Amino acid sequence: MRMILIGPPGAGKGTQAARLVDRLKIPHISSGDMLRAAAREGTELGKTAQSFMKVGGLVTDDIVTGIILERIAKPDCAQGFMLDGFPRTPPQVEALNQALQSSGVTLDIVLLLSVPDELIIERITGRRSDPVTGAIYHLKYNPPPSEVVGRMVQRPDDTIEACRERLAKYHCDTEPVIPLYEAQGILKRIDSVGPLDEITARIVAILR
Ligand code: AP5
Repeated sequence: MRMILIGPPGAGKGTQAARLVDRLKIPHISSGDMLRAAAREGTELGKTAQSFMKVGGLVTDDIVTGIILERIAKPDCAQGFMLDGFPRTPPQVEALNQALQSSGVTLDIVLLLSVPDELIIERITGRRSDPVTGAIYHLKYNPPPSEVVGRMVQRPDDTIEACRERLAKYHCDTEPVIPLYEAQGILKRIDSVGPLDEITARIVAILR
């Protein structure tokens, strides 16, 4: 299965992807995780990406498209993949369409996780993650177990200011992606408010 998760910051894309990949047996490819890894490694690409990410801006289409298209060309993506956070602009959609077309494959489904703006700041500022396992938690809604709580880290772009900018970018640059996939007849909307298990069940029901 070739699928895409889109939605505003804090919609639960990473959380739900982690719950789905074992079941679907496809790699989870998060553009945000790949850019953060490049920033940690201190590569030139990573430094450039970091300068956009820390203020909540979008990294340029050429950089992100390059790393994602290279990643989905790897052998472990031959039977499918779950893209999370890409494509995020109409030019990224176009680049992905062209790459898939030239490989003779098609997308199966695009899941749009919807959350009202008023819930997003609380979700983002309460997010913590485990640097050892990569697991995502929330201080209130999905608290980390006591044995790992001491090693939780917060993303540098999870400030209120950067989050507001990320949300503005979502409305301005990413929402135009939605009608493009609606026109292809592969977009499905998921209400991403409620307990995590319920949201996973909504997604699984649609995938069936
Ligand atoms: P990226 O890492 O993709 O960030 P994002 O899209 O802003 O999404 P988040 O990771 O913040 O949220 P999520 O939907 O995964 O939510 P999560 O599951 O963690 O991108 C970061 C940056 O990289 C961008 O700003 C940009 O600069 C750059 N970038 C990346 N891709 C790019 C691209 N294609 N083009 C250009 N630039 C790009 O959940 C959030 C919190 O909510 C967690 O604490 C979780 O526990 C909690 N939560 C989840 N579900 C629920 C629920 N149902 N109820 C209560 N709490 C919940």
